[in-house]
Amino acid sequence: MATPSRSGVFSQATDRRVERFTESISFDRRLYAHDIQGSIAHAQMLAKVGILTAEECEQISVTLKQIGKEIENDIFPFNIALEDIHMHIESALIERLGDVGRKLHTGRSRNDQVATDIRLWVRDALDRIDAGLLNLQRAFFERCEADADVILPGYTHLQRAQPVLAPHYWLAYCEKLERDRGRVRDCRRRTNVCSLGVAALAGTTLPIDRHDVAERLQFAEVAANSLDVSSDRDFVVESAFVLSLIAAHLSTWAEEWILWSTVEFNFLKLPHQFCTGSSIMPQKINPDVLELTRGKSARVIGHLQHLLVLIKGLPLAYNRDLQEDKPPLFDSFETVELCLELAAPLVAGATLNREGIAEKLEKGYLDATTLMEYLIFQKGIAQRTAHHLVGALVKDAMQRGVSLAELPLEALQAAHPDLDENVRSILGVKNAVEAFKSYGSTAPVEVRRQIERWRGILYGQEGLPLG
Ligand code: ARG
Repeated sequence: MATPSRSGVFSQATDRRVERFTESISFDRRLYAHDIQGSIAHAQMLAKVGILTAEECEQISVTLKQIGKEIENDIFPFNIALEDIHMHIESALIERLGDVGRKLHTGRSRNDQVATDIRLWVRDALDRIDAGLLNLQRAFFERCEADADVILPGYTHLQRAQPVLAPHYWLAYCEKLERDRGRVRDCRRRTNVCSLGVAALAGTTLPIDRHDVAERLQFAEVAANSLDVSSDRDFVVESAFVLSLIAAHLSTWAEEWILWSTVEFNFLKLPHQFCTGSSIMPQKINPDVLELTRGKSARVIGHLQHLLVLIKGLPLAYNRDLQEDKPPLFDSFETVELCLELAAPLVAGATLNREGIAEKLEKGYLDATTLMEYLIFQKGIAQRTAHHLVGALVKDAMQRGVSLAELPLEALQAAHPDLDENVRSILGVKNAVEAFKSYGSTAPVEVRRQIERWRGILYGQEGLPLG
């Protein structure tokens, strides 16, 4: 099959093995809708500057849309001899329109065409990721009221540390996901730049209007240097990073919930629609979706590495290596989108095991730091002294097999004579939570303030869902 990119300079047909080696149609067919969108805008611009007639432009647009429908309906024939999606669409256009079809590629090259298509594709994909992140934030947020009075142990080093209200946990994930959304927005800004019309690398002698194309494709900017933008894949690498960090955040959450759903923790019951069984052990309810969310982050992080290594040795401008950017790019987006899609209903469908959590809550001396701070602030004891003293009290309580609140008055007073019964008002996990004061802490009023802040962010000022 004749490929439009093979000019009269060649005296031999392409070796079949080269076709197989160089094809990208197996993965870049995903770009078909954006390729058609870009080509129609390009044709309209060519008509505007008088390179195409209005009628030619119309014929091209109508035929491109037809081709788009055929691809969508899976009735369009693909052939590796035509290398990529751009060649497929252009060949079909020429087959149907003859010389009119042969005019479409005026003033552009596949280099700027590919770059434009990926920018359009990434821009849409980033918007889908943003919607997925918002959806997951809302799932965490929606748990806050129902779990408002649940106290969980907070951990450092995975050792019991201080008590934390359950909504404080949920909103911690909202914060991480909000930073992810910020990175998606930043990345979108640098993606939303028009590369079409820089032609192969140097621009063109034809009187094209790049600003007109950019406007038609709703790009916010026109790339200022043809040489730079024909090689630029920064936005691809950047989106792979943004996705890697999202994947890493999802992985940490998944790990936490895998632990929480074990018999050992027994904090959480996962919804059964999101669990799988074992082929041999009939009692098993496995958290495979969470495990794969954790596992798939490896792929996404690997793709980022792939892309950085891919670009690091390339001289300006286009090099064929750049074709290898698409498999990792597509897979990163598709993987993270899937993870987000499953995470939201999983977060919504899980139930906290209130009894199980409460049963063990007084274990682990979660109120020890509160007691230390009480000694500092109420009794004027220096921090290091108070730290040592409470450590000794914890040791004593451990030996007696009791909590700090259960220590007899003599034991407290033996540690420090100023201690009296009043100290019990801050001991015990519930009192310890209520004793918190600082901004952003797990103090109930602070958590309430956070909840209201998030209601505004996630649902608009009136609490109505954002569009
Ligand atoms: N299939 C190629 C890619 O995806 C198209 C660009 C080819 N450009 C070229 N000058 N050979 O990158």
